[in-house]
Amino acid sequence: MAIHRILEAPDPRLKVVSTPVETFDAELDTLIADMFETMYDAPGIGLAAVQIGVPKRVLVIDLQEAGEDGEPVRKPLVFVNPELFDPSEELRVYSEGCLSVPDQYADVERPSTIHVRYRDQSGNSHEAALDGLLATCLQHEMDHLEGILFIDHLSRMKREMVLKKLEKARRRAA
Ligand code: NI
Repeated sequence: MAIHRILEAPDPRLKVVSTPVETFDAELDTLIADMFETMYDAPGIGLAAVQIGVPKRVLVIDLQEAGEDGEPVRKPLVFVNPELFDPSEELRVYSEGCLSVPDQYADVERPSTIHVRYRDQSGNSHEAALDGLLATCLQHEMDHLEGILFIDHLSRMKREMVLKKLEKARRRAA
């Protein structure tokens, strides 16, 4: 396993539309293992393969919500070739962040519940109905597969402000 460098906006590679996975092999297993390791290391709650420069339709999510003792519990989820359907009319606003837009947060409105059809790591098909943070997170990650970042949901002015702040923070760190 390996921790990969996460691409950051405005890297054009984040704009690439990801292609479906066709073979469920050892290469896919390695990609998924690397994605989890990279996400936990960052740390973050979701990662799309394209964020580590692999434009394949693979997402990993782990909300790492607190268990009874208050410690975060790992519950790793993998979505290969996911497709969303039946979004609710009801919307939910969440202050989103993204490992490709580090330390920047903004309110984004999305359907509050959603259904997903996807394959697991072995290629088996599944369907699930999602709500809450998981529904928000999955929709955010799905956007990555189409080359869309959460800041693309903001007004142009807000988006440019975020990108400017990002650039400034990068210069400071350099
Ligand atoms: Ni993201």
